[in-house]
Amino acid sequence: MKSDIKDIKLAAKGRLRIEWAARDMPVLKGIRERFAKEKPLKGMRLAACLHVTTETANLMDTLKEGGAQVHLCASNPLSTQDDVAASLVKHFGIPTFAIKGEDHKTYYRHIGQCLSLRPNITMDDGADLVSTLHKERQDLIGNLVGGTEETTTGVIRLKAMAQEGVLRYPIVAVNDAYTKYLFDNRYGTGQSTIDGLLRATNRLIAGSVLVVSGYGWCGKGVSMRAKGMGARVVVTEVDPLRALEAVLDGFMVMPLIEAAGIGDIFVTVTGDAGVVSQKVFAKMKDGAIVANAGHFNVELDIPALKKLSKSTRKIREFVDEYTLKNGKRIYLLGEGRLINLAAAEGHPSQVMDMSFANQALSAEFMARNYKKLENKVYPVPREIDEKIAALKLAGMGIKIDRLTPEQRRYLKSWETGT
Ligand code: ADE
Repeated sequence: MKSDIKDIKLAAKGRLRIEWAARDMPVLKGIRERFAKEKPLKGMRLAACLHVTTETANLMDTLKEGGAQVHLCASNPLSTQDDVAASLVKHFGIPTFAIKGEDHKTYYRHIGQCLSLRPNITMDDGADLVSTLHKERQDLIGNLVGGTEETTTGVIRLKAMAQEGVLRYPIVAVNDAYTKYLFDNRYGTGQSTIDGLLRATNRLIAGSVLVVSGYGWCGKGVSMRAKGMGARVVVTEVDPLRALEAVLDGFMVMPLIEAAGIGDIFVTVTGDAGVVSQKVFAKMKDGAIVANAGHFNVELDIPALKKLSKSTRKIREFVDEYTLKNGKRIYLLGEGRLINLAAAEGHPSQVMDMSFANQALSAEFMARNYKKLENKVYPVPREIDEKIAALKLAGMGIKIDRLTPEQRRYLKSWETGT
């Protein structure tokens, strides 16, 4: 079996960690057991471009149990867990093309190797697989029946493609399911970003001025968790509604250029490019720490930071010190890649359980319904979302109330008022 991973000898460690994650993924486990019996993906070739983590390994196993032939590559050069990649190859028999720290060229070579499967279904996190197919491998498009997309940034790219009329096969926007973004984006990014900051720096959060750029679901999560640890949180936004929400949630809100002079730690989660610009870097205090938790590192203008600097050195793992020509030092974490996956292990399994249940059920939905679908971006069907929420609660041992027949009738009526 062809693969490209760091070291197959890491497989035993990876297998144990994959098993550890599985303990907290009961919804996916239930799906895997059903898939093993029903084989809804039988005959499908599925290429996945995801962060290669213990949770992703459990998803890959589920898809394979469902009858799919699966190939996996990384969706970010720095997020791969090399022991997991080794175990996927050795114990799960899944061709994997991913090495933590791979350069840009290798990253795209791995995408190419993943596509050598000639997939019928793609599973993306950030849309690099879909965009490579549309830009460079149009010869493969005829085989495709559908795809899924995991993240906000990917969904934005795919919707832009659909809008322009260039998207050539249907995609399900997994990110937009309630059981995905309400939990993964908010509580997953919230916790794992703080985890990444701490593992990279071991700095005290309490009392720090922590600037969060972007108050979408990820930004809400990071702000909430930073506040919980005692940070004085400043939010920067471009959307008046979200900015207002941040104010009423109790955060200071101001333009980033103002926050630049007071922040100790900066985290970007906007999904946009050039947010921390040359001007912002230039205004930062000596010792400022800068990290990105959005999908791409373009949120930070790293070329501008390099231009402002007279020297750089790696001061500890995942921390590069940039000494500016004016003598100030700025610490860039994880090369500006998603800090939660570069320096930590990504979101905890409990939230990835729901995200990846959505992935598995959306792949099944695609396999069953593709003949009826157009080249558009579709939401996850509501029934799937509700089923995952119910299964997750059951997995947590939490029961909830049910509507009585009278209450159901009342909710459909209009006659009763004051
Ligand atoms: N994205 C964020 N956290 C993740 C994880 N643990 N596994 C896969 N993708 C992720």
